[in-house]
Amino acid sequence: MDAFCPHQGANLAHGRVEGDRLQCPLHGWLMDKNGRIRDLPHARDRSVVHPHWEAIDYYGMVMVYRSARQDARAPYRLPPEPKIDSGQFVRRGRYDAGEVDMHIIEFAENSVDFRHFSQLHGTMRIPWTNIEVPWIAIRHEPSWSRDDELGHVAYFLDEATLEILGRVYEKTKSRALITFLGPGSIVKFDFHIPKIGEITMFQTHTPVEALKQRVTYRWFAARHAPRPLVSYVVGNWISQWRQDVEIWKRKIYRQRPLRTANDGPLDEMRKWYAQFYPDGGDANMFGTSDRGA
Ligand code: FES
Ligand SMILES: [Fe+2]
Repeated sequence: MDAFCPHQGANLAHGRVEGDRLQCPLHGWLMDKNGRIRDLPHARDRSVVHPHWEAIDYYGMVMVYRSARQDARAPYRLPPEPKIDSGQFVRRGRYDAGEVDMHIIEFAENSVDFRHFSQLHGTMRIPWTNIEVPWIAIRHEPSWSRDDELGHVAYFLDEATLEILGRVYEKTKSRALITFLGPGSIVKFDFHIPKIGEITMFQTHTPVEALKQRVTYRWFAARHAPRPLVSYVVGNWISQWRQDVEIWKRKIYRQRPLRTANDGPLDEMRKWYAQFYPDGGDANMFGTSDRGA
């Protein structure tokens, strides 16, 4: 529900729940889940409907579809996760990464920017930190595709192999399948790591204001998957992500980047991404070449 009371604008989040109604802290107006003002004899206009959105509980995350069009309903649903539903995977951790100054499209642009992997993510970091491990390099083999049936879904696959003191160890090859369920507000990671097993992680970007996202990670794995190994895999990703963040918070958005061969399927991704803009992808949807997308 919109945070600010239609009466005098008090913050409803500081109110309280009375039965199935939300009570404003300032004058005690009650609102039902459909945004209607209730039980209030002296309210002049009871036909007012306070802005509200459908919300679902998705594996412990409150998900809301919010559109520039006030009354728009979610055009797609988030898929069930059979491994979590069946109890094979349980919730193993959460990390609040704080607020990051970036446009949400940067996360998607990053996934198709194949040429940055060796430059920016080619060295191993001590998981969760920025500290480089000098003798271990990471070889990335990225790819990107759209889902054949679900228009709002796209996949980024990263296969990573360790190179230790100049020698490539094929057996270390791990896979991270990253599923965009929409423009990047919620992104799912399926990690397959030799000897460690599988981990499912969600990265969420909650818009706080223009060009500011609150980033949170939540991960699920088998109940008995060893905690240090799970933490290693997740922390490794987060260390690499931090490398990107340092770039994103300082970069601009180039509508027409100077291209080179093998840059990655940037045009294809942008075409896919355009569906999430209300104008359906006007050529100027990202503004000019500055960051005011
Ligand atoms: S401001 Fe909410 S009831 Fe008056
Ligand atoms: Fe990156």
